Amino acid sequence: MIILENFKMPNVDLEAVMRYLTETGKRTHQLWMDDETLAFVARGREYRSEFHINASYEIQYSLKGAQDLMYRTPEGEVKVAHMPEGSVFYQPPFLPHSPRFAPDSFQFIIERVRKPGEIDKFHWFCPNCDNFIHEETFYVDDYRKDPVSRAYDNYFNSLEFRTCKKCGTVAPGRD
Ligand SMILES: [Fe+2]
Repeated sequence: MIILENFKMPNVDLEAVMRYLTETGKRTHQLWMDDETLAFVARGREYRSEFHINASYEIQYSLKGAQDLMYRTPEGEVKVAHMPEGSVFYQPPFLPHSPRFAPDSFQFIIERVRKPGEIDKFHWFCPNCDNFIHEETFYVDDYRKDPVSRAYDNYFNSLEFRTCKKCGTVAPGRD
């Protein structure tokens, strides 16, 4: 499947894409997708709390504003990589990561298209005791479906999903 929204040279006016996201309130806009790569611009989500795990690398470029990329080491330790505006970051496959950046900041992201059976995971942890509290899964065949927003819809709509089974803390909802 090949989706080329703007197949001309230069491919994409990134300033226009950032304006579009700001004016519409949308969080992501897919720029292209072919058999191997997909690219999109993302606007920050003030509510982002989960860690995303996927089989693809991610090349992340801080287009406007900075990003604090939180990630979890194989030992479960949470670390933060600060990415100032104008910096680029190669993120290896399967790294649990949580991109924290403001709604007026923008990232340009390139990923590998998922193979059949490669399922993206979204993991939430208790804000009090760091116990694993919930997983959402999604087959990302097209980023225009905004898989991150779909995962948060399910998570926010369930008090049970957001309640820690270990300490009873309820993680924040939509507001
Ligand atoms: Fe807890």
